[in-house]
Amino acid sequence: MRDHFEIRDADVAGRIGRLEIPRADRTIETPALMPVINPNMLTIEPSRLASEFGVELLITNSYIIRQTDRLRKQALEEGLHELLEFDGAIMTDSGSFQLSEYGEIEVTTEEIVNFQYEIGSDIATPVDIPTPPNVSRKQAEDDLAITEQALADAEAIDVGEMLLNAPVQGSTYPELREQAGRHAARTDLDMFPIGAVVPLMNNYRYDELVTAVSAAKRGLDTDCPVHLFGAGHPMMLALAVAVGCDLFDSAAYALYARAGRYLTVSGTEHLEELDYLPCSCPVCTEQTPEKLREKDDETRERLLAEHNLYVTFEELRRIKQAIRSGNLLELVDRRARGHPAMYDGYRALLDHAAQLEAEDPVSKGTFFYTSPESARRPEVLRHHTRLERLSTPERLLLTEAGAPDTDEYDAAWRVLAPFGPFPRALSETYPFTAAVPDRPDRQGQIAAAEGVSRLVEANRETEFTLAISAWHVDALDVIPKQVRIKRIGEIGEQNERSENNTKHDE
Ligand code: GUN
Ligand code: ZN
Repeated sequence: MRDHFEIRDADVAGRIGRLEIPRADRTIETPALMPVINPNMLTIEPSRLASEFGVELLITNSYIIRQTDRLRKQALEEGLHELLEFDGAIMTDSGSFQLSEYGEIEVTTEEIVNFQYEIGSDIATPVDIPTPPNVSRKQAEDDLAITEQALADAEAIDVGEMLLNAPVQGSTYPELREQAGRHAARTDLDMFPIGAVVPLMNNYRYDELVTAVSAAKRGLDTDCPVHLFGAGHPMMLALAVAVGCDLFDSAAYALYARAGRYLTVSGTEHLEELDYLPCSCPVCTEQTPEKLREKDDETRERLLAEHNLYVTFEELRRIKQAIRSGNLLELVDRRARGHPAMYDGYRALLDHAAQLEAEDPVSKGTFFYTSPESARRPEVLRHHTRLERLSTPERLLLTEAGAPDTDEYDAAWRVLAPFGPFPRALSETYPFTAAVPDRPDRQGQIAAAEGVSRLVEANRETEFTLAISAWHVDALDVIPKQVRIKRIGEIGEQNERSENNTKHDE
């Protein structure tokens, strides 16, 4: 049991949590995003991050501080919080990222963790090995053994109230990611960053990112706070939260600003190419693209960085509200329409619907069918599994329309794409209160047909009649041969779909 992290609310594998950071004497709400502070280059002053952006936790690099005489001296004498003039909580990284960028660093886990402790860090990091994607399996295993030794070295150090990170590596090998997660969860370290995903994100490989994170999550325990190292683009936050990440760190806001780039929830724009600013943050309300372009480099960079942070925190609040309202997947679906790489990521997420189903709440707000991908949501999968356990009477009508006025059947269940059949008594329960389109698509009908098939296969004694509108042939192909199919109208009842839809005018 990890008693410093408490899950308050959940949707899909995403959650709202409370993370206690004892050394900072603070409890912060997750999902949280830590702005990355380069101690040599403060694009936005940390004190402003606290007062204007509400930042309670940030991340900086202890290795850079240790290697820079002026910074090391001041950090050791006055402490990290004084150095950065920030009185919230501070996480520090170890130099591992520098290791992955430059090939070597001159510090051991013992030295750098002790240094992080001495300068007053609230959450410290050992020297893990960020193994890049697509290395040989042998290299991924060898690197992982070194990372696991670094965790053991960190565990052996007395760090008082300071929390410690247990990075999870394993490159693009799901079994290694899972094994690394399981190993990390068994240590008594506190936080679980998933490492070496920056190359995947830089190359827009969001599907592989989702695969790596889901694998790590299978090894970790539900109550492990999970950090996605180096992730902070607003476009991908909803997806990353849905797969189960609680913490993010953004260098993107500053790095992109330096390159004249403007972040949005559906990608990155070049200031040079913008005629309008599609945002209402304080910067975008005051400025126009032209005015921004006329500023001196430093001012333009700072203003772009501020906008970048505003959109990022706005998205984070939207995500938290979506978790509360139970419509996080609808948000992920919207983000998937903003960028093809996010679309890949969303589809990879749905490949893991069975894993998500285990954590997804059984009841939430209204299920909105917003795309063909909605047919692959965990709720659909869960219902299909349940259908196999439902028993049926001798003569059962499954109908997309209302109950018919005839005693030809022992019961009439509703059929609703994408779920398939369900007993009428469940009509007012989640997810059957779903808002679905008047024009169901092929995937929704196929999913409904699969539901029919699951029920039929589990109840061979029952005589099934299926009354449907004009279904796609690919859906009809899924219906078992012994089912009698009728068109709505042939059984003398009215179409229920429009009645169903008017209930959901949200
Ligand atoms: N920053 C981004 N990726 C990583 C990683 O894999 N390990 C560490 N320690 N820091 C990182
Ligand atoms: Zn803005």
